[in-house]
Amino acid sequence: MTVERKRVLSGMRPTGRLHLGNLHGALDNWLKLQEEYDCFFFVADWHALTTDYATPQQIKEYTWDMITDWLSVGLDPKKSTIFIQSEIQDHAELYLLLGMITPVPWLERNPTYKEQQQQLKNKDLSTYGFLGYPVLQAADIIIYRAHGVPVGKDQLPHIELTREIVRRFHHLYGHKIFPEPEALLTEFPTLPGTDGRKMSKSYNNCVYITEPVESVHQKIMTMVTDPQRKRRKDPGDPSVCPVFEFHKIYSTDDEREEIVKGCRTAGIGCVDCKKMLLRHIDEFLDPIREKKKYYMDNMMEVHEIIIDGIDRAKKETAMTMEMVREAVGMAPFSGSN
Ligand code: TRP
Ligand code: SF4
Repeated sequence: MTVERKRVLSGMRPTGRLHLGNLHGALDNWLKLQEEYDCFFFVADWHALTTDYATPQQIKEYTWDMITDWLSVGLDPKKSTIFIQSEIQDHAELYLLLGMITPVPWLERNPTYKEQQQQLKNKDLSTYGFLGYPVLQAADIIIYRAHGVPVGKDQLPHIELTREIVRRFHHLYGHKIFPEPEALLTEFPTLPGTDGRKMSKSYNNCVYITEPVESVHQKIMTMVTDPQRKRRKDPGDPSVCPVFEFHKIYSTDDEREEIVKGCRTAGIGCVDCKKMLLRHIDEFLDPIREKKKYYMDNMMEVHEIIIDGIDRAKKETAMTMEMVREAVGMAPFSGSN
């Protein structure tokens, strides 16, 4: 008997190259999960359209940037099924069917709906597609009959809505097809950017995982430190210093201890402290840069990985959709679809 591994699924919007914040947030978690679960990871390009429908030109480019970055940090196509949402049209059909049973008030009370409309004022988000976004996300998840969904806190309402839709589907159609998916929350501290705010593309404060060495050095050497530490002889406080947040990821316990002591007594300067950090960052990013170069030089191989992922994904969605069409009384008379 083969013991089926629990299935995990997650998606990421194509926002282009990944930065260290993405890597030490969501992606590190994915890398861990692929060792233990049957994982499906996809580029949520249709989701990008819900906010960027007026300017879709970059979505394709961002999709491949992101995929090559995923592979470069170690997402492994032998362990994980990696694909692109818009290649799997079954998502759209399930989205349509779930749309039939999802009450509009469930969507209107979704906190991210109003929040995002407020935040992205330069875009007209009064569309049907934007309102229905969580239904598409529900379809993405349950079409693979996923048990676990690694997401950040901001996505919790969407997972809860997915569970409600699953219950409603089962209640209406009497077939228990889907597991009720659970959010796999991991609390990772958010990595600050070079200006001390949360690392985010929109703040222009990111260090990208495949950024050239000189550029990384330039960014770290000019990064903000403890603002109270103005001169070399002033003591500092690592607990308020963004550079120290990086040391927490990249340096050893002994080094951190040395830095804490040195910083508080003005024994070491920020330049020395940053140089120590850069040695580790270089060591960490060098192999990632090399892999990125390899994949960029061998895009055919990347395409094959994704074609294979699409293939595996489609096998799963076909199985689910057969049960779904049957359940809702929409099985094709020709026996196939
Ligand atoms: N909505 C998610 C985000 O913006 C991306 C996403 C789309 C997703 N479909 C998903 C995440 C399915 C998990 C599962 O980050
Ligand atoms: Fe930050 Fe390091 Fe300077 Fe202390 S010595 S303020 S930890 S950069």
